[in-house]
Amino acid sequence: MLNNQTQTLNWLADAEGIIRARRSTRGFKNTPVTQETQARIMHALNTGRNPFKSSHRFNIIENSNMSDDNMKLGTYGVIKGANTYLLSAMTLGDNHLEALGFDMEYAVLQAQSEGIGTCWLGGTFNKSQFAAAIQLQSNEIVPIVIPLGVPADKAGLVGQMIRGLAGSNNRLPFESLFFKGTYGSPLTMSQAGKYAQALEMVRLGPSASNKQPWRAVLDDNTVHFYLKPTKGYAKALSYDIQRVDMGIAICHFDAMVQAQGIPGHFEKLKGPELEKSDDSEYIISFVS
Ligand SMILES: Cc1cc2nc3c(=O)[nH]c(=O)nc-3n(C[C@H](O)[C@H](O)[C@H](O)COP(=O)(O)O)c2cc1C
Repeated sequence: MLNNQTQTLNWLADAEGIIRARRSTRGFKNTPVTQETQARIMHALNTGRNPFKSSHRFNIIENSNMSDDNMKLGTYGVIKGANTYLLSAMTLGDNHLEALGFDMEYAVLQAQSEGIGTCWLGGTFNKSQFAAAIQLQSNEIVPIVIPLGVPADKAGLVGQMIRGLAGSNNRLPFESLFFKGTYGSPLTMSQAGKYAQALEMVRLGPSASNKQPWRAVLDDNTVHFYLKPTKGYAKALSYDIQRVDMGIAICHFDAMVQAQGIPGHFEKLKGPELEKSDDSEYIISFVS
């Protein structure tokens, strides 16, 4: 795999189409994911563009290769028919979860570009089975696993139920998520100018239980990203899953600025005004 080096993904020019087409897939056909596709998905995890410091490692594992039945990868019936899983392991540290979200979403979009369905799983999987499969070290956790496969023709009952419960087809309005100048002051799509599509693709991103914790403030040419935590949600797991959502959002923004040729870079800025944002936490800025 490439290290610290920007690689071009062949679908980037159509990042918007790929992001719009992605949906969580929970039912899969019995068609194997080829070794070539698996290799490209692994490759996409390493764009060299991650603005966050990471501590993760990844592996793709085939359920059918697990000789011991107790080791078979389980998702409590949420995922049907998947044989192939992308597994992550990491140590916790500053922005490590954002870094994980960023890299894994590039892999999700790569999969989508090849007709392979995915579903981010942070809760509904058997931790000990997946931990054994990735040979988890004592200082590591398995925050996320993602099934990979050709989507089944129908979503299936469990899949439909989860979509309904999470309200997966809905997103908050643009003006409630993104702000002009100061946190809380609504930004319309037309006011967002060259960033309109990139922010719209942030809005369409997946998030745990579809909570959509991402917020952004457009200040001249700079976009400041914030995490607005859902009350009580971080305590549900041993790690703050909404930080993964933030990494996914930054990935979508990054893919879009590349697709649209918008110059700039991500940077963690310093300044007291960035912290003035009710209950939200400043994460990073895109400086153009
Ligand atoms: C970090 C993260 C964790 C998630 N964990 C689960 C999970 O454990 N089980 C599940 O069925 N869906 C899970 N999802 C999928 C979300 O419910 C889904 O992304 C959201 O409802 C929006 O639907 P969409 O992905 O089809 O656009 C997770 C998504 C994210 C981003």
